[in-house]
Amino acid sequence: GKGNYRHFMEKELHEHPAVLGDTLRQYLDPKTLEVRLPRLPFDPARVPRLTISACGSAFLAGAVGRYWIEELARLPVDADVASEFRYRDPPLAEGGAAILVSQSGETADTMAALRLLKAGGQKVLSVVNVPESSMARESDGAVLTVAGPEIGVASTKAFTAQLAVMACLAIGFGRARRELSTLDEGRLTQALLEVPSQAAQILEQDAQIRDLAAEVAKARDVLFLGRGSLYPIALEGALKLKEISYIHAEGYAAGEMKHGPIALIDSAVPVIALCPTGPLFEKTASNLQEAAARGGRIMAFTDADGVAPLSRFAEHVIELPKVGAFSTPILYAIPVQLLAYHVAVLKGTDVDQPRNLAKSVTVE
Ligand code: M6R
Repeated sequence: GKGNYRHFMEKELHEHPAVLGDTLRQYLDPKTLEVRLPRLPFDPARVPRLTISACGSAFLAGAVGRYWIEELARLPVDADVASEFRYRDPPLAEGGAAILVSQSGETADTMAALRLLKAGGQKVLSVVNVPESSMARESDGAVLTVAGPEIGVASTKAFTAQLAVMACLAIGFGRARRELSTLDEGRLTQALLEVPSQAAQILEQDAQIRDLAAEVAKARDVLFLGRGSLYPIALEGALKLKEISYIHAEGYAAGEMKHGPIALIDSAVPVIALCPTGPLFEKTASNLQEAAARGGRIMAFTDADGVAPLSRFAEHVIELPKVGAFSTPILYAIPVQLLAYHVAVLKGTDVDQPRNLAKSVTVE
């Protein structure tokens, strides 16, 4: 049941810390600070190229994985939504491997991608939440997310659990390919082990996010911006808002603004920016300042060090815990999901059963 929560989605949002802890505990050793992956169907050190495919939010978790795996393991990754991948007839690398991501393990397009990949000689690993699913059974190997049943149609805890698994895979691949030292592995593992408590801290900011939602709920169009591994999280914010509040939203790579979308900016369009301090901060902040100069209403998520610079032009600045760049996609996913949730509640939509959507899309 829903317990004391109004919706399954709200309950599932509050399960983030527990689910992240349960999932990370499967694949990280807190004593040695090492990643412990189950037996993989391929040797990451020998694979020339990796394909990642999935649908919807699961694809966006895979898209973050692409940033991590390329950065930490220096392994080239091709990431595409399964509905495109399956008809694209892509040339597959000899000895190549693939990762499929799915909560249900039953999504029709992802299953079709699985069969195509296997027919093309690729070794397929699936990241799934349902151990007895078709995808887990038909793949060459499976790594489980430990999210428990997810009832709300909008994916929340399953998404962050997928990110947690992708992060562990990226570290493990980095080690296997000798791109990461033991020290790097320890540092990244330590950062992941802190994620569950940081997720709990973010959930305590619920009231602030609800205030932001009151503004966003009045909009007809909303833009989400992010850079690097936060770009897929901007897309996730837009997907979630569309899915449950029916407000039109788009996610963009912050640097793409001036190539088109900035034309949309006026005082009626909230621009929600995922903008932690770090190497990309100045660039994103200057993209935001340009939008503000055109009357855009900037609403930014950042950390303590980002509050003062962004407050010079942003209408709302929400401070999240200061974490290393590696963990930001997992943590910044939570406030964008919470925001969508509160906007939907304010709009009075059917949060757990949005119109026209099914939890598991088993037809093409
Ligand atoms: O079961 P799957 O993870 O394969 O489902 C994929 C998508 O249908 C799913 O993530 C969908 O985009 C969610 N409703 C998004 O919140």
